[in-house]
Amino acid sequence: MERVPSQRGKFAIITGANSGIGYETALGLAKKDAMVVLACRDMRKAEGAKSRILETYPKANIKPMKADMASLAGVKQFAKHFQSHFDKLDLLINNAGIMMSPYKLTEDGFENQFATNYMGHFALAGLLLPLLTGTPGSRVVTLSSLSYKWAEIDFDDLHAKKRYSKRKAYGQSKRACLMFAYELQRRLSAAGYGTLSLAAHPGLSKTNLDRYFPALIRPLGALFLQNPEKGALPVLYAALANDLNGGEFIGPDGFQEMRGDPTVVNSDAYSKDRKVAQRLWRATEEMTHTYYLGEETHTWKP
Ligand SMILES: NC(=O)c1ccc[n+]([C@@H]2O[C@H](COP(=O)([O-])OP(=O)(O)OC[C@H]3O[C@@H](n4cnc5c(N)ncnc54)[C@H](OP(=O)(O)O)[C@@H]3O)[C@@H](O)[C@H]2O)c1
Repeated sequence: MERVPSQRGKFAIITGANSGIGYETALGLAKKDAMVVLACRDMRKAEGAKSRILETYPKANIKPMKADMASLAGVKQFAKHFQSHFDKLDLLINNAGIMMSPYKLTEDGFENQFATNYMGHFALAGLLLPLLTGTPGSRVVTLSSLSYKWAEIDFDDLHAKKRYSKRKAYGQSKRACLMFAYELQRRLSAAGYGTLSLAAHPGLSKTNLDRYFPALIRPLGALFLQNPEKGALPVLYAALANDLNGGEFIGPDGFQEMRGDPTVVNSDAYSKDRKVAQRLWRATEEMTHTYYLGEETHTWKP
């Protein structure tokens, strides 16, 4: 981060920026003088995060805005609100997430982890696409996880209405995030846009993501997980490094990618399967009623 030049004049959105990786990413960008929108579902927590950032870096330029990523109406409302204040967007960081929550369908009828972690961000990127593609050098960074390996995409039961495994549902949502990041890059570049799309994962970091874990297990994390400041570095690297072309997955370089410094990491063959990615894209367009970078509107070919 010391080598990163000033980001003054750049506008960034970070979803779920009030705690953990999102908060540390916001702090990192704010310290480089970017204007950072904390897109959070709870405005009280967002204001608290703003105060903490200002305590650390009084010159920070921070704007909290309400964004519930589990609700299509909430995502639309946020996108509209943002567009009424700003006419460009340099960085969209798709970070908000929940892990292994009890079964719940959102108000839109979607499984909660899939909706929050993946579908809301798919819709948000689509709604903000005109701003992103109109901003030279813009990037979209989407948070995946090592846990993407826990599941494939279950097209027959995307919302786990037949059978719910909280572990599989988290894995599916994070695999969808990874495949979305890769597919978005392919579609952006096929359409001739300079906006880059990247995926990132923070290894294993001690954050509030363990809120649904048993109370006895939670304190153990502090013993072996890396701190969220370190966990945010792959996200910041994906957002800021100038040796990336888009389509990369950034994670920690240590043992099994669980901790360490940011580097480009690989992912399994399924995550790179274009047919699955295209099917997922079309299905998500239909479910979110958000259509973008499709066959009809661009030169993109399957
Ligand atoms: N920590 C890790 O080891 C790890 C590993 C792999 C991937 N990740 C990914 O990193 C990202 C950040 O997680 P974290 O570890 O920093 O956990 P965290 O501390 O729990 O942060 C998650 C953030 O997402 C927000 N959020 C949850 N549901 C939301 C919704 N419906 N609308 C808007 N915001 C919502 C939370 O807000 P509230 O405070 O209001 O709940 C919080 O700000 C997630 O995508 C996660 O999958 C983390």
